[in-house]
Amino acid sequence: MSTETHWNRVYTDKAVTQVSWFQLHASQSIQLIQSLKLDFNAAIIDVGAGASILADELLDLGYNHLTVLDISNMALQQSQQRLGDRAHLIDWKVANLLSVELEPETYQVWHDRAVFHFLTQPQDQKRYIQQVKTAVQPLGYVIVATFAEDGPVQCSGLEVQRYSVAQLQQQFAEPDFRFISSVQDVHITPNQQAQKFNYVIFQKR
Ligand SMILES: C[S@@+](CC[C@H](N)C(=O)[O-])C[C@H]1O[C@@H](n2cnc3c(N)ncnc32)[C@H](O)[C@@H]1O
Repeated sequence: MSTETHWNRVYTDKAVTQVSWFQLHASQSIQLIQSLKLDFNAAIIDVGAGASILADELLDLGYNHLTVLDISNMALQQSQQRLGDRAHLIDWKVANLLSVELEPETYQVWHDRAVFHFLTQPQDQKRYIQQVKTAVQPLGYVIVATFAEDGPVQCSGLEVQRYSVAQLQQQFAEPDFRFISSVQDVHITPNQQAQKFNYVIFQKR
């Protein structure tokens, strides 16, 4: 099954509030984005956003230059319906982030919660990091949240690559990226399972 078919099925078969990664509020991501102290017109992309509430909450705070990308049009449609009149304020991209052509040096923030960890093949991980290097502005920020080294081994029936902070630093390595900070987070799924995440901020050189 293709990646696109897999994810469209997930978002068709389950209510968005029932997927294991569902968050009522994207609090950890919001806190990290706010910590960067950027202008409200900073270009922010949420990759593999699914039907996340992050974009809604960023709009609520005043951020006004948002792009939301996902391989699943089913997921993005649900976010668009939820946003209603405000949906047109966002640049929506239905695309595979590994193959989409991204405008060079466009984004001041690249945000990814629970997407990079699905890439278990080194060539896909390299391709992802190449996409980040292309699309993020010099001195822009990359926020990546993956399952921690002692987090779950699977998500949505797919194997994941778990990462310690040090392992993420090896992926987003000098001289292209500078490590800024990290924070551990425990996500409680709708089924009350605890999932350990590492959130890391890097700055692109
Ligand atoms: C576990 S969900 C996380 C969704 C969202 N980031 C959140 O925190 O609620 C992973 C998301 O990544 C998307 N995805 C997986 N592989 C992708 C790819 N190659 N390109 C774009 N999106 C992808 C899926 O469709 C899904 O919405």
